[in-house]
Amino acid sequence: MLSRPRRNRKSQGVRQLVRETSLAPGNLIYPLFLHDGTGDVPIPSMPGCHRWSLDGLAREVEAALKLGIEAFILFPAIPASLKTKGAEEAWNEKGLVPRALRFLKQELPEIVLITDIALDPYNSDGHDGLVSPQGQILNDETVEILCRQALCHARAGADLVAPSDMMDGRVAAIRQALDQENFADVSILSYAAKYASAYYGPFRGALDSAPKSGDKKTYQMDPANVREALREASLDEAEGADILLVKPAGPYLDVIRQIADHSTLPIAAYQVSGEYLMIKSAAAAGWIDEPSVVLESLLGIRRAGADMILTYFAKDIAPRLR
Ligand code: PBG
Repeated sequence: MLSRPRRNRKSQGVRQLVRETSLAPGNLIYPLFLHDGTGDVPIPSMPGCHRWSLDGLAREVEAALKLGIEAFILFPAIPASLKTKGAEEAWNEKGLVPRALRFLKQELPEIVLITDIALDPYNSDGHDGLVSPQGQILNDETVEILCRQALCHARAGADLVAPSDMMDGRVAAIRQALDQENFADVSILSYAAKYASAYYGPFRGALDSAPKSGDKKTYQMDPANVREALREASLDEAEGADILLVKPAGPYLDVIRQIADHSTLPIAAYQVSGEYLMIKSAAAAGWIDEPSVVLESLLGIRRAGADMILTYFAKDIAPRLR
């Protein structure tokens, strides 16, 4: 036998030499939920995750920093009393997200802070965009508000803004709005291919942000499509996106691979709440070994072509990656 592939697997040292994909804490972005309250409240729909108070948030960020995680994305839980049809709270300079940004930047100036740009936590309709009296999601009117939201976050210190709303033309509009106010250095991490996915269920529970009526299929993508994802990706690239994101991650590895092959931009993938919960609950039942499955799932997402991964496991798994 001339070829014995097993020779390259004969010891840990040799396996390490031939390893094709790496995974380090620096590849991870840690999503954090926050609320305007004093305590840190466990989220029933997402065991292991909390709605952090500002102090709790700072402590959690500091602990993650010590493990090598330097990038964080913030998701606010907004009380029903502040949700309106016009989602005005989304660009309130004194709102929860701008306050958290200022607080964290003051305490820990070196961290990378990312904010979600979409209206669903602020909108009494629970949609990412404004809803017309006839129930339609209004594109251009929403884009105008997303620009205000992005500017509000940039003024408070966001390093990257991440539009997750899937409205058409929002990347170009946000880029222009940022540049006009001298925020040329604020990056856009665009959710280029965000699918209308059942895997977001636990997240909507965490923020009480589920749509009050209808679904998100007129703006988020059909899970059956991949060529359409390439179209979305090239539009966002042309509009000035700095990073392209695919979401969810695990069930869409082919989409990650194809976008990575077609674009020269860095690629992000979001291991979403449903992916997190499937691993968590199987591990809680004693059916799988959590850290091993988490590592394998993240390595698979990297192997598919993602440079960075948003994952709720970031802090738990980081010690294993050093
Ligand atoms: C909404 C948003 C969602 C997630 C991130 N931003 C939910 C949605 O589109 O309904 C989902 C994240 C997750 O499930 O972990 N703009």
